[in-house]
Amino acid sequence: MKRIPRPRISIYVQLVFWTSVIILLLMFGVLYIIQTREVKAIYQEKRERGLVMVRYISEMNVRSLVLGDLESIDENISGLIREDLAYVIFYDADSKPVVVSQSIADNAEVINQTSCAGEVSPGDVFYNTIRLSRGRSLQEVMEVEVPVFIPGSEKKWGSVKIGLKLEDVFRRVQRTRLVLLGFGLAAFLLTVLGANLLARRITRPIKNLVEGTRRISRGDFSYRIPVISSDEIGGLTRSFNQMAEELLRAREQMEEANRRLLQAEKLASIGRLSATIAHEIRNPLTSVKLNIQKLAEISTLDELEREHLSIAQAGIEQIEKFIKDLLSYTRASSLQKDYFSLAEVLDESLKLLQPSLKEKEVVVEKDYQPDLPPAYVDADRLRQVFLNVLRNAYEAVDRGGRIEISLRMNREEDRPCFEVRISDDGCGIPEKDRENIFEPFFTTKSSGAGLGLANARRILDQHGGTIRVVDKEGRGSCFLITLPCPESRQEAQT
Ligand SMILES: Nc1ncnc2c1ncn2[C@@H]1O[C@H](COP(=O)(O)OP(=O)(O)OP(=O)(O)O)[C@@H](O)[C@H]1O
Ligand SMILES: [Mg+2]
Repeated sequence: MKRIPRPRISIYVQLVFWTSVIILLLMFGVLYIIQTREVKAIYQEKRERGLVMVRYISEMNVRSLVLGDLESIDENISGLIREDLAYVIFYDADSKPVVVSQSIADNAEVINQTSCAGEVSPGDVFYNTIRLSRGRSLQEVMEVEVPVFIPGSEKKWGSVKIGLKLEDVFRRVQRTRLVLLGFGLAAFLLTVLGANLLARRITRPIKNLVEGTRRISRGDFSYRIPVISSDEIGGLTRSFNQMAEELLRAREQMEEANRRLLQAEKLASIGRLSATIAHEIRNPLTSVKLNIQKLAEISTLDELEREHLSIAQAGIEQIEKFIKDLLSYTRASSLQKDYFSLAEVLDESLKLLQPSLKEKEVVVEKDYQPDLPPAYVDADRLRQVFLNVLRNAYEAVDRGGRIEISLRMNREEDRPCFEVRISDDGCGIPEKDRENIFEPFFTTKSSGAGLGLANARRILDQHGGTIRVVDKEGRGSCFLITLPCPESRQEAQT
């Protein structure tokens, strides 16, 4: 048997992987754009705040700068240095620092730089980011510088520069990044979970299909895949189940055909053999029988001699029955069918057995459904069937035993049929023998030929009927015989 090779990487893993990768790439692209915009907005906010502050300081001190009142400027700005404002520097028209806030008095490099040197106009703003060393630590600062003009005049009186600490900006950027990262991680987990669920939903029916093909390839045609979706895979599953159904039916038909073929072969060989046996045995047997009869007519025979003769006669009758059964089993004579009441045929078979039943005190209980339609059968051959089964029941029960016969109408594969049940409370049939008992020459009896049930099955086969052993409560065995019941006379004769 060829094994279906397993894929190296399952569809499930591929689906989870690729769905996660694509969604993750998209998500991180979006998060990157959001992050860049957020950071830009935070810096922009800081620049705008710086511009508002530097303009306010410039307007507040323009008069003092024009008048050269540097002391009042120093006083004004000393009160402003707090929060994120690191320092304020005023330059005169020659770009020389004239007032420097106390907070940076020792940082000469910063004090000497100005962006407003040279030609500038009233609306100009200069931004700059620098590193400020404070003892051992470094601090980043955003400088905002504007020139100082008197409204209506073109003369530049100097410039004001402020330094804004960027610590809070960094903190906000950091927080934004952390929030986005947390969001990204949560989204990642959700993505993997979602991809997992999606992959499971897609691959489950595929897995079921793979399992189904494995079972079918192992010959288990009874396996059906549950249909859990109504999409294309659902359609495929339905077609698969239908295919399994057809395969099962084809196999059953093949097995039945095989059984019939075997039976036919067996019959043919037994037929040839039995014809020879019958021919070779019958003639000498008839002369033995006649001679024994003549001997039995002698009136001077004593009791013992008569008993020996009757034992010989019984033996001859047994041989004759065997030859008759054998020929009946092998001869494929055509059926003489007509309409008969099955109840009557059953009663006639029972009547033939009545003396023996009476002698053994066997109780027979009948349960026939009233008003049944007639069956289209060969009554002689069917009588033989019932007689064989009834005789077996009789042979199986003890003295005072019980045989039940029921006849009713039923439906099999949606067609009406007659059902005859013959059960007894005898020795029963071991499970292992249940199928063998229908084989020719299978017997557990010392004087049996093993042809009774084989004959019955053959006759029922010819009628399109069946015979089988069914389970029974308590001791004994039960045979179920079915016969087709034609729905119309026309149908029966075709
Ligand atoms: N009602 C029954 N109870 C128990 N065993 C049974 C019953 N009917 C059939 N069997 C078993 O099935 C075997 C085959 O039965 P079958 O009628 O074919 O042959 P037979 O009765 O042995 O011989 P004969 O050819 O005389 O009928 C029997 O030998 C017996 O073991
Ligand atoms: Mg029998």
